[in-house]
Formats: sequence, C-alpha cells, structure tokens
Amino acid sequence: MESIWSKTTKIQERPALSSDLSVETAVIGGGMAGILIAFFLQQKGRKVIVLEADRIGGGQTRNTTAKITSQHGLTYEKLIRKYGTEKAGLYARANEEAIQKYQDIIEENNIDCDFERLPSYLYSTRERHKLEREAEAAAELGLPATYVETVPLPFSTVGAVCFENQAQFHPLKFLKEISKKLEIFEKTMVYSVKGHKIVTNWGTVNAENIVFATHYPFPLVPGCYFLRQHQERSYIVAFSGIKKLDGMYYSIDKAGLSIRSAGDWTLLGGGAHRTGENESGGSYASIRAQAKKYMPQGKEVAHWSAQDCKTHDQLPLIGSYSRFRPYWYVATGFEKWGMTFSMISAMIISDRICGTENPYQKLFSPQRFHPLISACDLMIDVGISVRGLLTGYHVWTCMKEKDLENGHGGIVRKGFRRYASYRDEAGNIHRISIRCPHMGCELLWNPDELSWDCPCHGSRFDCDGNLIDNPAQKDKKEILD
Ligand SMILES: Cc1cc2nc3c(=O)[nH]c(=O)nc-3n(C[C@H](O)[C@H](O)[C@H](O)COP(=O)(O)OP(=O)(O)OC[C@H]3O[C@@H](n4cnc5c(N)ncnc54)[C@H](O)[C@@H]3O)c2cc1C
Ligand code: FES
Repeated sequence: MESIWSKTTKIQERPALSSDLSVETAVIGGGMAGILIAFFLQQKGRKVIVLEADRIGGGQTRNTTAKITSQHGLTYEKLIRKYGTEKAGLYARANEEAIQKYQDIIEENNIDCDFERLPSYLYSTRERHKLEREAEAAAELGLPATYVETVPLPFSTVGAVCFENQAQFHPLKFLKEISKKLEIFEKTMVYSVKGHKIVTNWGTVNAENIVFATHYPFPLVPGCYFLRQHQERSYIVAFSGIKKLDGMYYSIDKAGLSIRSAGDWTLLGGGAHRTGENESGGSYASIRAQAKKYMPQGKEVAHWSAQDCKTHDQLPLIGSYSRFRPYWYVATGFEKWGMTFSMISAMIISDRICGTENPYQKLFSPQRFHPLISACDLMIDVGISVRGLLTGYHVWTCMKEKDLENGHGGIVRKGFRRYASYRDEAGNIHRISIRCPHMGCELLWNPDELSWDCPCHGSRFDCDGNLIDNPAQKDKKEILD
C-alpha cells in the first residue's frame, strides 16, 4: 500500500537523538508542515531542530494527492456567509500566497519536484447551482474563478468552477530537497512535553519554543485539541495508461472523485468517511468501479489511503497553542488541504517566533472562538466520543471468535470478555484489546485497510496492535488486556 510518491523517492535517513539537548526551537513532527516551518525558521537565521517519531515525510504527507490549490471544495460561499467578505478574502489570499511561495522556493533552490501550474476544476454531475454560487463567491473575493460549462473529463458533468493558475507537485521530492540542510532526528518519538522540556524515547530536549506539527497534537491539556477536531480518511488508486489530464479535478458529489495526473499516472481519490466508521468497507472498490466505467483503459499500479483533521468551523488551527503556554505553537486541522496550509503554517509560525506580525495569524488562530458556528459539529464529536467510550458492554451480542471467517476482523467474545480479533488468510488469529490507548474509545475494524481504527480522534493500529496513525502514541499491544 505504498503511494507512488514514496515508491519513487528515497529520502536520506537521519540519526535518532543521541544525547540531551538545549535548542532555540524544536519542531515535533517531520511532515510537510513541520519541515516547512523548520525551513522557514532556518532561512530567517534561527536555530531549529526537528524531532520525528519515524521517518520525515512518512506520515500523511507521503499519502497525499499533492494538489497545491486555493480551491477547497465548496468553500468561499460558505466562508462569506459564516465570516463575511473580509475574512473569506484573507483565507483566499493566504492560500494564493502559499501557492506562489511554493513556486518561489522551488525556483530559488532549483528543486526538481514536478511542480506545474494548472487549472483546478470543482465539478458536479448534478449540482449546477451550487457551483455557480461558488464561482460567484470566489470571483467576488478576487480569486481567478469562473464557471465553465465544458469540463475536460471523460464523463459528462453539469459544469465546473475553474480556478486558473493553481499547482501540483511531487510532495516527497520537494520535502527531500528542503530538508537537506535541516538538523533532524528520526526514530525519535516525543512522549510528553512539560513546559520547555520535551521527553523522547532517546533523551530530553529543552527548547525555548516548541512547535507541535504532529498532524494531530497529542497533549490533552492545555488546548483540548481532542475536542476541536476529528479525522476523516480517504482512498487513492493510481492507474497507468490513461491520457494525461489538463488540470486537477475535485467533485462536490457524494462518492465523486478527486482526480489528477502525475507523470504517466492518473490518481483517482474518493471513498471518504470519518476514521473508524468504515465497517462495511468498499472505499477502494467504489473508486475502481468508477475507473472501470469512465477510464476503462487504465491499469492499476498502486493504491493507498490517508487521513486528515477536520475542525468544527472549517478553518485550520495554526499559531499559538494555548494562552497558558505562549512558547508552544501548533499547526493542525488542515481539512485535507494541508499543502497550502502547511505553507501558511510556516509563514505564520516562523513570523510569530521571530516577533513579526503576520496578516493571517488572527484568522487561523487556535484561540478564536466561534460558538454558534462550531456548536453542531462539537456536539456530534462529543456524541461520537461518548458512544465510543460507553459501547462495548453487550458481550452476548458479539459473534464468537471461532465464527470469524478468514480475512475478516471484528469485535468478538471469548468467555465473558470482548476482543478486537482478526483471522488472517491462513486462519491465524490476531487478537488485541478493544480500547484505544489514547482516551479509551472502542476501536472498529476497517476492512479496506485491515486495521483497527478509532472513531473518536482517528488513531489507527494494525491487526497486531502496532500504532499506524496518531494521536495515540503507544502501540496497542503495550496495554493488551
Ligand atoms: C486522501 C488525502 C488526499 C489529500 N490530498 C491533498 C491535496 O491534494 N492537497 C492538499 O493540500 N492536501 C491534501 N491532503 C491533506 C494533506 O495531505 C495533509 O494535510 C498533510 O499531508 C498533513 O501534513 P502534516 O505535516 O500536518 O502531517 P504528517 O505528514 O502526518 O506529519 C506529521 C509527522 O509527525 C510525526 N509525529 C507524530 N507524533 C509524533 C510524536 N509524538 N513525536 C515525534 N513525531 C511525531 C509523524 O510521524 C509524522 O511524520 C490530503 C489528505 C488526504 C487524507
Ligand atoms: S484516538 Fe482518541 S480515544 Fe482513540
């Protein structure tokens, strides 16, 4: 399940932390956000290190679609309605500036990362009015947006919102180059942060400034980020043999496809669901079925999936972590648009650390509070967390482990206890406890990825309990019942 990005790039390994250190700034997490933040700080003459639990670029960044765009689905009409024209305009400008910054960095540093400027199309097979309204709203904010009747896709649509001059690239080729001169410690998992002290599996680091670029921040307090976002997972299948597309595409329809070309390959994405809510599976199957229908000449070359954080008010959380820790910073809640938002995080956080005002810091500040806008999603998230914590006491409604078929997983009963159990194709049982080590919610089986996923905040584990995705920091087997 390796993405085409990681299949085609090898990034030089870095050593783990080998002794205690004192530094000016420590960035925790070496994904697109963490590496760009460190790169910006280094460019501004600051001393910075990156602490990465595994390999840089090895988190969600290696599994992205890597469109660099200010077109984020049906966004601008909603933003204007919720926040007014001024704030919606700032959102648009920040994203357009981020696209340009990628181009500047790539040109200044001569980076070969398949960067290309292309139009981006937001299309539908039935919702013309929504698209027209979105085109109007985006154009009103000064974005290069028009409504177009003809969309260069191999199936019919009712039209699209076209944003000119957007971009796409190879995320890991870019990350590899900009990380070359950074001081990075890999295989260095941060377990806890107390004030300025960072405790890792290899030693401690004292840092004047600490940036949490871990995709989902792990400290529960302060900040309570676990109450402010959940994760959503989606799936990508790459095909060869399809004619290169002149543009990037994103559907507003349920089960619609996200599409882009990457060299000789075409990537189709879709099958989105809240992480931990895919018990019946079928996400890859739905993409493959559409590919077969619309692009039958395509031959599958790879498939993979990723997840991202969704906040309650449609805005990412970038900036000061909490008013109780003025020297902590955070970059999260990218809403599946983390290429531009990683760049915006680097702009905002490096300015904050250098004591410079940034025009976008207020809009994306985690200290903002939109009670009316956030209330509904907050209630849903709290409801799902409560359900995740309380379910699991109906032992007799579970199937018996012996009834699990080969290649299937599920919550089973064994005597008076319930377990998360998977029977592999050879008939061997892989059994772990059902509670997530993050905050104790009940894990659910994801048949598309053969993983145990948590519906509360999106941690994931393989069938033997090894941690795949955070915010949990421990393998599941460490707390096996
Ligand atoms: C299917 C899909 C397609 C997408 N396509 C696009 C797209 O086309 N365009 C776009 O703009 N965005 C896209 N996104 C979103 C984008 O990929 C993400 O927002 C972005 O990659 C997140 O980067 P990150 O640096 O925040 O996280 P990550 O890349 O996950 O990096 C976080 C890093 O922190 C490390 N870490 C975590 N905990 C610790 C710890 N305790 N100690 C040390 N290190 C730690 C992890 O190992 C990881 O390497 C997509 C998302 C999905 C799900
Ligand atoms: S991810 Fe928070 S309880 Fe599982």
